[in-house]
Amino acid sequence: MSNGYELWLNYTKISDEATLLKYRSTIQTVFLEGTSETQSVIKNELEMGLGGLLDTEVVFQGFNKGGNQLIVSKYNDLPQELKSSFIMDGLSKEGYKIKTIESNGASFVVVTANEDIGLLYGTYNFLRLLQTHSALENVDITEIPKVDVRVLNHWDNLDRTIERGFAGFSIWNWHTLPGYIDQRYIDYARANASVGINGTVLTNVNANALILTPQYLEKVKALAEVFRPYGIKVYLTARFSAPIEIGGLETADPLDADVIQWWKDKAKEIYTMIPDFGGFVVKANSEGQPGPQNYGRSHLDGANLMANALEPFGGLVIWRAFVYSEHDPTDRAKQAYSEFVPEDGKFMDNVLLQVKNGAIDFQPREPFHPLFGAMPKTPLMMEFQITKEYLGFATHLVFLPKLYEEVLQSDTYRKGKGSTVAKVIDGSLNNKKVSGMAGVSNVGNDINWTGHPFGQADWYGFGRLAWNPYMTAEDIADEWLRLTFSNDEKFVEPVKQMMIESREAVVNYMNPLGLHHIFDTGHHYGPGPWVGNLSRPEWNPVYYHKADSEGVGFDRTKTGSNALSQYAPEVEKMFTDLKTCPEEYLLWFHHLPWDYTLKNGRTLWDGLGLKYQEGVDEVRDMIKTWEAMKPYVDDARHHQVSMLLDIQLEEAIWWKDACMLYFQTFSKMEFPREMEKPE
Ligand code: GCU
Repeated sequence: MSNGYELWLNYTKISDEATLLKYRSTIQTVFLEGTSETQSVIKNELEMGLGGLLDTEVVFQGFNKGGNQLIVSKYNDLPQELKSSFIMDGLSKEGYKIKTIESNGASFVVVTANEDIGLLYGTYNFLRLLQTHSALENVDITEIPKVDVRVLNHWDNLDRTIERGFAGFSIWNWHTLPGYIDQRYIDYARANASVGINGTVLTNVNANALILTPQYLEKVKALAEVFRPYGIKVYLTARFSAPIEIGGLETADPLDADVIQWWKDKAKEIYTMIPDFGGFVVKANSEGQPGPQNYGRSHLDGANLMANALEPFGGLVIWRAFVYSEHDPTDRAKQAYSEFVPEDGKFMDNVLLQVKNGAIDFQPREPFHPLFGAMPKTPLMMEFQITKEYLGFATHLVFLPKLYEEVLQSDTYRKGKGSTVAKVIDGSLNNKKVSGMAGVSNVGNDINWTGHPFGQADWYGFGRLAWNPYMTAEDIADEWLRLTFSNDEKFVEPVKQMMIESREAVVNYMNPLGLHHIFDTGHHYGPGPWVGNLSRPEWNPVYYHKADSEGVGFDRTKTGSNALSQYAPEVEKMFTDLKTCPEEYLLWFHHLPWDYTLKNGRTLWDGLGLKYQEGVDEVRDMIKTWEAMKPYVDDARHHQVSMLLDIQLEEAIWWKDACMLYFQTFSKMEFPREMEKPE
């Protein structure tokens, strides 16, 4: 019986007897001589991991020439006879190697790296090999992260509520910090390090300046100390108006001498307490947050103000590109590109621009953000949302790495064919000095961390993709299932299929054919395409679907908002031409008549109904698949997922009925015959 707390670090005894015996004989002892904090962490993890998986006491001892030993050692400290088996060039600080070595008739499995942190990552990978029952005979792995800054963004408030958090309250207990270190902080660090996440932004982007006061910094310092051995740096969100709110200044103008000094002093204060502090994440002049534009200055002025303060200490400024205002009523999708592209090349070297995967807001499906590839001189960091604000919260099963993969594999064409978003993000397209990926966390204090048991896969998958943005969603699902539940193929194959299809299912039953932002407003749960009387036009769903008696969809071609002109010419052409625009983006870019003919010969109206129906049917299939998995999953988690899938089905039907009934008031057409009619 599992409550899911252990996540994918599930070290229960390997059930397959033959595999177990083989591992026991291959790893009779462990050589681990280092004594640094990180090496102690490695030792603990091996005690838990090997001890649990092999159900034996783990024997640490000196180098055994006789072999059958696991060696975990920095390259410089490797026993001489093993060194020649490795070439360490280009491995960087965080990379590692795992290799099986036969030496004088003896056999070793060696995990080695240049630095402690690489060793820790290698250890987790080694344990993963055991958890997935992989053969150890001919292991030869070299891993180097492709992205430098791999961070979770917690939208956690100081009162422990979480903006868009659906798995309980914040795990940061500001009340008992710094004196009380919750075991969760340690397990959180283990989980992150196990997938290579190396930073955490503790606080909400809608920031509270109090976090920068000495009283809170003491608490932040305590967390930083817990995370340090795991290679995880702490970052904070910086409220632009902090100099006024906690500094007693009258302005936060980025060009004001006192303001400049205030941020410098603040940076110094932080680094005195937390020498490896990561830096600031800033949301400015967006959705009512203060920013440089309040003083007639630009984002550039704001970002460089903070970058200048952090630069002496090696800190980063992660400036968010999620900006839109009520002053441009034509198309919110265009604003970030218009504001940031002209500033390309002017940001200080320690500034990264954090860009959401799409130009609107974490929709079930969005075309990639036009900023990707359009700022060759500025490091652009990916912002994915792991919490499911627009995808059914922690109630619906939707495997997000499938969405992430689609975005990362999209081709920007900025340097010709093959200029994928992944290459923008890892910096290879334009030779960037620093690269990054952020995921808005779905973690809360629910016993299983993420509410929905399958939400853990999104956290896991985000980490794996941040390490290597070229991984496939399928491989990630495969790994996660084996680590979390079972290696039985009869379980892994169907459930993997279910996870992969779950993403298209949610698009179908919520936002098919390029519809977007038709959620009920405010909370964004459930359908609400009819809402149209909110104070700001771009907060109204009707702004996005533009349904009328003529048709439906947002014209972003030249005859409409012309947002398409922000893409490379090849992409613009492909999306503009109805013959080449993929139907999944149809209504994102075009306003089309209800009787427009789709590729399958059906009308747009029928097509919508059929897609909604397909989504509902897909959830029914998910339920069937899951039902058949009972023999392979503990009762508690099986039952949880079953109950959640039942809700998901009810709500998929709700989406279908609500949206089709609403749009019918414009189309005035009969529902397609294959669609189940609303009751
Ligand atoms: C969305 C979300 C907000 C959040 C914002 C952001 O609009 O609904 O809660 O603050 O994104 O990313 O800044």
